[in-house]
Amino acid sequence: MCGIVAIVGTRPVSERLVDALKRLEYRGYDSAGVATIHDGQLDRRRAEGKLFNLETKLAGDPLPGLIGIAHTRWATHGAPTENNAHPHFTDGVAVVHNGIIENFSEIKDTLIADGATFSTQTDTEVVAQLLAKLRRDGLDGREAMQAMLRSVTGAYALAVLFADTPGTILAARSGPPLAVGYGEQEMFLGSDAIALAPFTNEITYLNDGDWAVLTADGVDILDHDGNPVTRPRQVSIAAAYMVDKGNHRHFMEKEIYEQPEVISHALGHYVDFTENRVSAAASAIDFARIPSLAISACGTAYLAGLIGKYWFERYARLPVEIDVASEFRYRDIPLSPDAAALFISQSGETADTLASLRYCKDLGLTIGAVVNASESTIARSSDAVFPILAGPEIGVASTKAFTCQLAVLAALAVGAGRARGTISIEEERVLVRHLAEMPRIMASVLNAIQPKMESLARELAKCQDAIYLGRGTSFPLAMEGALKLKEISYIHAEGYAAGELKHGPIALIDENMPVIVIAPHDRFFEKTISNMQEVAARGGRIIFITDERGAAASKLETMSTIVLPNVDELIAPMIFSLPIQLLAYHTAVFMGTDVDQPRNLAKSVTVE
Ligand code: M6R
Repeated sequence: MCGIVAIVGTRPVSERLVDALKRLEYRGYDSAGVATIHDGQLDRRRAEGKLFNLETKLAGDPLPGLIGIAHTRWATHGAPTENNAHPHFTDGVAVVHNGIIENFSEIKDTLIADGATFSTQTDTEVVAQLLAKLRRDGLDGREAMQAMLRSVTGAYALAVLFADTPGTILAARSGPPLAVGYGEQEMFLGSDAIALAPFTNEITYLNDGDWAVLTADGVDILDHDGNPVTRPRQVSIAAAYMVDKGNHRHFMEKEIYEQPEVISHALGHYVDFTENRVSAAASAIDFARIPSLAISACGTAYLAGLIGKYWFERYARLPVEIDVASEFRYRDIPLSPDAAALFISQSGETADTLASLRYCKDLGLTIGAVVNASESTIARSSDAVFPILAGPEIGVASTKAFTCQLAVLAALAVGAGRARGTISIEEERVLVRHLAEMPRIMASVLNAIQPKMESLARELAKCQDAIYLGRGTSFPLAMEGALKLKEISYIHAEGYAAGELKHGPIALIDENMPVIVIAPHDRFFEKTISNMQEVAARGGRIIFITDERGAAASKLETMSTIVLPNVDELIAPMIFSLPIQLLAYHTAVFMGTDVDQPRNLAKSVTVE
């Protein structure tokens, strides 16, 4: 959620810290701050809003110092004001924090009873106040850190400065990720390897429960009990992924148009196109032997999983239990240890997804991760990793990660079908040929529909609400369309199974309600058309997304019909994702919202 970066070395740090924060802004962007030690004192600059405000402040009032910690915030406790922005200072202690201190209120009461005065509404301030108290009680920096970590519960990544040890950064991790980077006479700390990429590609990820002491000469890593531990030093590939918007107005637009290329990379990993067979990479889980599959994820990744469920059940006859991770982990689902579980996540750091993974791991299930960030905690905690190879996705609204997740799930489901003997070699070949066609079809669809989606978006931008309908795999896609529209345009939108319309949502239909119907000419088509009739009869304004056969078969009058090429049912969800992404994108552009960093959201959600 929040992003942390820190440097200790022999050169000024504040400008470099802010540059590194820019690469972490996807984690949160409601306020930011940086603290250094110079002339034996802690000093800081903080600003509400985007990083630009902090940069402006620093330009007018520079911050010297060879050691510093910095933070970009996604508010949990306390409004996104400058006063609540990190770093928090108390009595010679500076703290930045990502996560939630769950027992903050109890610690705060004790500290207040002891005479402390709090100046922010954040949970983080208890860490600073507690450390300051422990130092006043006579503990040195390391001892205070160890004692503080024994007192706090919850999820945290922390970086701490003490004014009286101006060459040392203390750091701790329980939950949200933290990476230590190695330089020449300099050490770095960051929420991820991308933040550190311009400084170093040699990194060590702290394990859960670890804490660390960084000086310019190196790092000591300790476990929760304070015992020295060694964690692997690895070469990160993050530097290869430094990105910009190219000729596009927004990262989201760029990422939409990258899809044909990245999907072809993703497929290349799972499919042997010369033989038209699914390759060994898709069999890192022994699908033939498992009795069932559990899938869990959040947001868009969950909707990809829901489409995956249709495929695993249809092609591999494999029963799938799926739920959003925040429910899954608490449901007490009767899961067999012989089963496997797939966790889908672009960032690989989503707290609820990770908690569901650990829950399944404790039950003894085989764990698979469908992730974009292959160095992430979810990837590192899994038995089998299925990278989606989408490249960095910067726009908060997920687009290319979604279709790459789908492409990988489609390949896994076909591979599982082969392994379980529920599809023949010839059927596998046909399905793989359909997958192989996908990048080319996506490129031509993107090219063909763009002007139409833009002019439709002009109309949609005038609406207050929208309904998306679909059946089969188009039902999760309808939910994804609604999620995409609401998160970036702030128009209220809901996605429903088309058959559910008459059980309640139909009450919302009138001449002001746009209804986006996603209906390829598949085995559900006629039924969806009947639901469309019900909308038309009540004056609803239908935006009909179909294929050539569907357009020819439907005689209904619509506000607009988007006609895509006829494609096989397996690849339809990826192709039909394109108009819903473009519709949301252009609507948001017309509304003038912050498309890449919509309000209240963050790209990586590392709190429950
Ligand atoms: O990084 P993850 O894939 O685990 O993130 C899950 C969701 O937070 C994410 O898909 C979210 O719903 C997106 N903003 C949707 O566009």
